[in-house]
Amino acid sequence: MWGVEKRTHEGRVAFITGGGRGIGAATAELLASEGAAIAVAARTLDEVSSVAEGISASGGKSIPLVVDVTDEQSVAAGFERCREELGPPTILVNNAGTPGVPLPVAAMEPAAWRGVFEANVTGSFLCAREALPMMASENWGRIINVSSAAARHPLAGMAAYSASKAALDQLTRILALEGEPYNIAAIGVYPGVVDTRMQEESRSFGAKLIGDQLHRMFSNYRDFGMLRQPEEPAELISYLCTPAAERLNGHIVRLEQLASLKEES
Ligand SMILES: NC(=O)c1ccc[n+]([C@@H]2O[C@H](COP(=O)([O-])OP(=O)(O)OC[C@H]3O[C@@H](n4cnc5c(N)ncnc54)[C@H](OP(=O)(O)O)[C@@H]3O)[C@@H](O)[C@H]2O)c1
Repeated sequence: MWGVEKRTHEGRVAFITGGGRGIGAATAELLASEGAAIAVAARTLDEVSSVAEGISASGGKSIPLVVDVTDEQSVAAGFERCREELGPPTILVNNAGTPGVPLPVAAMEPAAWRGVFEANVTGSFLCAREALPMMASENWGRIINVSSAAARHPLAGMAAYSASKAALDQLTRILALEGEPYNIAAIGVYPGVVDTRMQEESRSFGAKLIGDQLHRMFSNYRDFGMLRQPEEPAELISYLCTPAAERLNGHIVRLEQLASLKEES
Protein backbone atom coordinates (compact mmCIF):
# COMPACT_ATOMS: atom_id res chain seq x y z
CA MET A 1 0.00 0.00 0.00
CA TRP A 2 1.35 3.42 -0.92
CA GLY A 3 2.00 6.10 1.62
CA VAL A 4 -0.22 9.17 1.64
CA GLU A 5 2.40 11.78 2.45
CA LYS A 6 3.23 12.80 -1.15
CA ARG A 7 0.42 12.82 -3.71
CA THR A 8 1.90 15.01 -6.42
CA HIS A 9 -0.73 14.18 -9.05
CA GLU A 10 -3.82 13.91 -6.82
CA GLY A 11 -7.00 14.62 -8.78
CA ARG A 12 -5.40 14.32 -12.22
CA VAL A 13 -6.48 11.85 -14.90
CA ALA A 14 -3.65 10.51 -17.08
CA PHE A 15 -3.97 8.72 -20.42
CA ILE A 16 -0.82 6.69 -21.04
CA THR A 17 -0.25 5.03 -24.41
CA GLY A 18 1.95 1.95 -24.54
CA GLY A 19 1.05 1.57 -20.87
CA GLY A 20 1.04 -2.23 -20.93
CA ARG A 21 4.77 -2.71 -20.42
CA GLY A 22 8.18 -1.05 -20.32
CA ILE A 23 8.42 2.71 -19.80
CA GLY A 24 4.65 3.20 -20.15
CA ALA A 25 3.82 0.64 -17.44
CA ALA A 26 6.41 2.10 -15.04
CA THR A 27 4.98 5.58 -15.69
CA ALA A 28 1.41 4.39 -15.12
CA GLU A 29 2.38 2.80 -11.80
CA LEU A 30 4.34 5.84 -10.61
CA LEU A 31 1.70 8.44 -11.54
CA ALA A 32 -0.96 6.25 -9.89
CA SER A 33 1.10 6.00 -6.70
CA GLU A 34 1.23 9.80 -6.77
CA GLY A 35 -2.54 10.15 -6.91
CA ALA A 36 -3.51 10.22 -10.61
CA ALA A 37 -6.26 8.03 -12.07
CA ILE A 38 -4.79 6.18 -15.03
CA ALA A 39 -6.11 5.01 -18.39
CA VAL A 40 -3.63 2.33 -19.47
CA ALA A 41 -3.81 2.10 -23.28
CA ALA A 42 -2.16 -0.30 -25.74
CA ARG A 43 -3.18 -3.09 -28.13
CA THR A 44 -2.49 -6.12 -25.92
CA LEU A 45 -5.42 -6.75 -23.57
CA ASP A 46 -3.51 -9.01 -21.14
CA GLU A 47 -0.81 -6.40 -20.62
CA VAL A 48 -3.03 -3.35 -20.10
CA SER A 49 -5.32 -5.40 -17.82
CA SER A 50 -2.42 -6.63 -15.73
CA VAL A 51 -1.03 -3.10 -15.23
CA ALA A 52 -4.47 -1.65 -14.39
CA GLU A 53 -5.21 -4.52 -11.97
CA GLY A 54 -1.84 -4.03 -10.27
CA ILE A 55 -2.62 -0.35 -9.74
CA SER A 56 -6.08 -1.09 -8.36
CA ALA A 57 -4.69 -3.79 -6.05
CA SER A 58 -2.28 -1.20 -4.61
CA GLY A 59 -5.12 1.21 -3.85
CA GLY A 60 -4.96 3.32 -7.01
CA LYS A 61 -7.51 4.00 -9.70
CA SER A 62 -7.02 2.67 -13.22
CA ILE A 63 -8.80 1.29 -16.28
CA PRO A 64 -7.35 -0.84 -19.06
CA LEU A 65 -8.06 0.31 -22.63
CA VAL A 66 -7.38 -1.66 -25.79
CA VAL A 67 -6.32 1.10 -28.16
CA ASP A 68 -4.35 1.08 -31.39
CA VAL A 69 -2.88 4.59 -31.61
CA THR A 70 -2.64 4.37 -35.39
CA ASP A 71 -6.42 3.94 -35.69
CA GLU A 72 -8.50 7.11 -35.47
CA GLN A 73 -11.69 5.34 -34.31
CA SER A 74 -9.86 3.29 -31.73
CA VAL A 75 -8.18 6.40 -30.28
CA ALA A 76 -11.47 8.35 -30.20
CA ALA A 77 -13.25 5.46 -28.44
CA GLY A 78 -10.41 5.15 -25.90
CA PHE A 79 -10.57 8.82 -24.95
CA GLU A 80 -14.35 8.70 -24.70
CA ARG A 81 -14.20 5.72 -22.30
CA CYS A 82 -11.54 7.47 -20.25
CA ARG A 83 -13.71 10.59 -20.00
CA GLU A 84 -16.77 8.58 -19.00
CA GLU A 85 -15.06 6.33 -16.46
CA LEU A 86 -12.31 8.48 -14.95
CA GLY A 87 -13.04 12.02 -16.17
CA PRO A 88 -11.37 14.15 -18.86
CA PRO A 89 -7.65 13.38 -19.06
CA THR A 90 -5.42 16.37 -18.34
CA ILE A 91 -2.19 14.38 -18.66
CA LEU A 92 -1.37 12.58 -21.93
CA VAL A 93 1.79 10.49 -22.16
CA ASN A 94 2.40 9.66 -25.84
CA ASN A 95 4.69 6.73 -25.13
CA ALA A 96 3.50 4.04 -27.60
CA GLY A 97 6.16 3.52 -30.21
CA THR A 98 8.12 1.11 -32.30
CA PRO A 99 11.58 1.06 -33.88
CA GLY A 100 10.44 -1.35 -36.62
CA VAL A 101 13.26 -3.37 -38.15
CA PRO A 102 16.23 -1.03 -38.58
CA LEU A 103 17.23 -1.27 -42.25
CA PRO A 104 18.99 1.00 -44.73
CA VAL A 105 16.63 3.11 -46.82
CA ALA A 106 17.40 1.16 -50.01
CA ALA A 107 16.36 -2.09 -48.29
CA MET A 108 13.25 -0.80 -46.57
CA GLU A 109 9.71 -1.60 -47.70
CA PRO A 110 7.47 1.49 -47.86
CA ALA A 111 4.87 -0.30 -45.68
CA ALA A 112 7.47 -0.80 -42.94
CA TRP A 113 8.48 2.88 -43.12
CA ARG A 114 4.85 3.96 -42.89
CA GLY A 115 4.25 1.59 -39.96
CA VAL A 116 6.96 3.30 -37.91
CA PHE A 117 5.64 6.79 -38.71
CA GLU A 118 2.04 5.72 -38.04
CA ALA A 119 2.88 4.50 -34.54
CA ASN A 120 5.45 7.13 -33.54
CA VAL A 121 4.09 10.28 -35.15
CA THR A 122 0.49 9.85 -36.33
CA GLY A 123 -0.40 8.01 -33.11
CA SER A 124 0.80 10.95 -31.02
CA PHE A 125 -1.05 13.39 -33.28
CA LEU A 126 -4.31 11.40 -33.01
CA CYS A 127 -4.07 11.20 -29.22
CA ALA A 128 -3.18 14.89 -28.84
CA ARG A 129 -6.08 15.79 -31.12
CA GLU A 130 -8.52 13.98 -28.81
CA ALA A 131 -6.90 15.20 -25.60
CA LEU A 132 -6.56 18.91 -26.41
CA PRO A 133 -10.27 19.89 -26.24
CA MET A 134 -10.67 17.93 -22.98
CA MET A 135 -7.62 19.67 -21.49
CA ALA A 136 -8.80 23.07 -22.74
CA SER A 137 -12.16 22.55 -21.04
CA GLU A 138 -10.25 21.98 -17.76
CA ASN A 139 -7.95 24.95 -18.48
CA TRP A 140 -4.90 22.79 -17.68
CA GLY A 141 -3.04 20.08 -19.50
CA ARG A 142 0.30 18.37 -19.92
CA ILE A 143 1.37 16.39 -22.98
CA ILE A 144 4.55 14.34 -22.65
CA ASN A 145 5.92 12.89 -25.88
CA VAL A 146 8.36 10.02 -25.39
CA SER A 147 10.95 10.57 -28.10
CA SER A 148 14.51 9.32 -28.49
CA ALA A 149 18.02 10.74 -28.79
CA ALA A 150 17.96 8.97 -32.17
CA ALA A 151 16.04 12.07 -33.33
CA ARG A 152 19.31 14.02 -33.15
CA HIS A 153 22.02 11.40 -33.79
CA PRO A 154 22.08 10.01 -37.32
CA LEU A 155 22.92 6.31 -37.52
CA ALA A 156 22.95 4.30 -40.76
CA GLY A 157 20.00 1.90 -40.74
CA MET A 158 17.88 3.97 -38.38
CA ALA A 159 16.19 6.34 -40.87
CA ALA A 160 12.57 5.48 -40.12
CA TYR A 161 12.89 5.52 -36.33
CA SER A 162 15.15 8.59 -36.19
CA ALA A 163 13.14 10.65 -38.68
CA SER A 164 9.88 9.71 -36.93
CA LYS A 165 11.23 10.82 -33.55
CA ALA A 166 12.57 14.06 -35.08
CA ALA A 167 9.05 14.66 -36.43
CA LEU A 168 7.65 13.94 -32.97
CA ASP A 169 10.00 16.55 -31.48
CA GLN A 170 8.73 19.18 -33.89
CA LEU A 171 5.14 18.14 -33.12
CA THR A 172 5.99 18.72 -29.44
CA ARG A 173 7.25 22.26 -30.12
CA ILE A 174 4.15 23.13 -32.12
CA LEU A 175 1.79 21.62 -29.53
CA ALA A 176 3.57 23.85 -27.01
CA LEU A 177 2.64 26.95 -29.03
CA GLU A 178 -0.93 25.83 -29.69
CA GLY A 179 -1.57 24.72 -26.11
CA GLU A 180 -0.15 27.74 -24.32
CA PRO A 181 -3.33 29.90 -24.47
CA TYR A 182 -5.19 27.05 -22.70
CA ASN A 183 -2.54 26.43 -20.06
CA ILE A 184 -1.50 23.22 -21.81
CA ALA A 185 2.23 22.48 -21.90
CA ALA A 186 3.91 19.95 -24.20
CA ILE A 187 7.33 18.50 -23.37
CA GLY A 188 9.45 15.85 -25.10
CA VAL A 189 11.56 13.21 -23.36
CA TYR A 190 14.71 11.34 -24.38
CA PRO A 191 14.47 8.41 -21.93
CA GLY A 192 17.98 6.97 -22.36
CA VAL A 193 18.64 3.35 -23.29
CA VAL A 194 16.09 1.38 -21.29
CA ASP A 195 15.77 -2.32 -20.48
CA THR A 196 12.44 -3.09 -22.18
CA ARG A 197 10.96 -5.40 -24.82
CA MET A 198 12.02 -2.87 -27.44
CA GLN A 199 15.70 -3.37 -26.61
CA GLU A 200 15.20 -7.13 -26.33
CA GLU A 201 13.69 -7.19 -29.84
CA SER A 202 16.42 -4.96 -31.22
CA ARG A 203 19.07 -7.36 -29.87
CA SER A 204 17.27 -10.32 -31.42
CA PHE A 205 17.66 -9.06 -35.01
CA GLY A 206 20.65 -10.96 -36.42
CA ALA A 207 23.75 -9.19 -37.77
CA LYS A 208 22.83 -10.66 -41.15
CA LEU A 209 19.56 -8.71 -41.17
CA ILE A 210 20.55 -5.36 -39.65
CA GLY A 211 24.32 -5.33 -40.20
CA ASP A 212 27.24 -5.81 -37.80
CA GLN A 213 27.39 -2.26 -36.52
CA LEU A 214 23.79 -1.99 -35.27
CA HIS A 215 23.78 -5.56 -34.02
CA ARG A 216 26.90 -4.87 -31.95
CA MET A 217 25.48 -1.58 -30.67
CA PHE A 218 22.30 -3.22 -29.30
CA SER A 219 24.26 -6.07 -27.71
CA ASN A 220 26.78 -3.66 -26.21
CA TYR A 221 24.02 -1.70 -24.45
CA ARG A 222 23.32 -4.84 -22.45
CA ASP A 223 26.83 -6.31 -22.23
CA PHE A 224 28.37 -3.06 -20.97
CA GLY A 225 25.62 -2.45 -18.41
CA MET A 226 24.24 0.63 -20.14
CA LEU A 227 20.55 -0.25 -19.86
CA ARG A 228 18.48 1.84 -17.44
CA GLN A 229 15.43 0.56 -15.64
CA PRO A 230 12.03 1.87 -16.89
CA GLU A 231 11.43 3.46 -13.47
CA GLU A 232 14.11 6.09 -14.27
CA PRO A 233 12.38 7.71 -17.28
CA ALA A 234 9.08 7.26 -15.42
CA GLU A 235 10.45 9.51 -12.67
CA LEU A 236 11.38 12.14 -15.25
CA ILE A 237 7.93 11.95 -16.85
CA SER A 238 6.27 12.29 -13.45
CA TYR A 239 8.35 15.40 -12.72
CA LEU A 240 7.40 16.87 -16.10
CA CYS A 241 3.73 16.50 -15.17
CA THR A 242 4.11 18.73 -12.09
CA PRO A 243 3.06 22.39 -12.17
CA ALA A 244 6.75 23.40 -11.67
CA ALA A 245 7.67 21.90 -15.05
CA GLU A 246 5.44 24.31 -16.94
CA ARG A 247 8.56 26.40 -17.62
CA LEU A 248 9.78 23.57 -19.88
CA ASN A 249 6.91 23.97 -22.35
CA GLY A 250 8.24 23.16 -25.84
CA HIS A 251 11.53 21.71 -24.58
CA ILE A 252 12.91 18.24 -25.20
CA VAL A 253 14.41 16.92 -21.98
CA ARG A 254 17.05 14.18 -21.52
CA LEU A 255 16.95 11.69 -18.64
CA GLU A 256 20.32 12.99 -17.42
CA GLN A 257 18.77 16.42 -16.77
CA LEU A 258 16.31 15.21 -14.13
CA ALA A 259 18.42 15.94 -11.04
CA SER A 260 19.36 19.47 -12.14
CA LEU A 261 15.80 20.27 -13.19
CA LYS A 262 14.53 19.20 -9.77
CA GLU A 263 17.16 21.37 -8.08
CA GLU A 264 16.10 24.41 -10.12
CA SER A 265 12.45 24.20 -9.08
N1 LIG B 1 13.77 1.25 -24.57
C1 LIG B 1 14.60 2.19 -25.03
O1 LIG B 1 15.83 2.05 -24.99
C2 LIG B 1 14.04 3.46 -25.62
C3 LIG B 1 14.94 4.47 -25.97
C4 LIG B 1 14.45 5.65 -26.51
C5 LIG B 1 13.09 5.81 -26.68
N2 LIG B 1 12.22 4.80 -26.36
C6 LIG B 1 10.79 5.02 -26.58
O2 LIG B 1 10.07 4.69 -25.43
C7 LIG B 1 8.73 4.34 -25.78
C8 LIG B 1 8.31 3.08 -25.02
O3 LIG B 1 9.12 2.00 -25.45
P1 LIG B 1 9.61 0.82 -24.49
O4 LIG B 1 11.09 0.84 -24.55
O5 LIG B 1 8.91 0.88 -23.18
O6 LIG B 1 9.17 -0.44 -25.38
P2 LIG B 1 8.10 -1.60 -25.17
O7 LIG B 1 8.28 -2.26 -23.87
O8 LIG B 1 8.19 -2.42 -26.40
O9 LIG B 1 6.71 -0.82 -25.13
C9 LIG B 1 6.11 -0.26 -26.25
C10 LIG B 1 4.66 -0.01 -25.91
O10 LIG B 1 4.02 0.65 -27.01
C11 LIG B 1 2.82 -0.06 -27.31
N3 LIG B 1 2.47 0.14 -28.71
C12 LIG B 1 3.23 -0.10 -29.82
N4 LIG B 1 2.51 0.16 -30.92
C13 LIG B 1 1.28 0.56 -30.50
C14 LIG B 1 0.09 0.95 -31.17
N5 LIG B 1 0.01 0.97 -32.51
N6 LIG B 1 -0.99 1.30 -30.43
C15 LIG B 1 -0.94 1.29 -29.07
N7 LIG B 1 0.16 0.93 -28.39
C16 LIG B 1 1.25 0.56 -29.10
C17 LIG B 1 3.13 -1.50 -26.96
O11 LIG B 1 1.95 -2.26 -26.69
P3 LIG B 1 1.19 -3.20 -27.74
O12 LIG B 1 2.22 -3.85 -28.60
O13 LIG B 1 0.42 -4.11 -26.85
O14 LIG B 1 0.29 -2.26 -28.49
C18 LIG B 1 3.90 -1.31 -25.66
O15 LIG B 1 3.02 -1.14 -24.58
C19 LIG B 1 8.72 4.20 -27.30
O16 LIG B 1 8.14 5.33 -27.88
C20 LIG B 1 10.20 4.13 -27.66
O17 LIG B 1 10.47 4.61 -28.96
C21 LIG B 1 12.67 3.64 -25.82
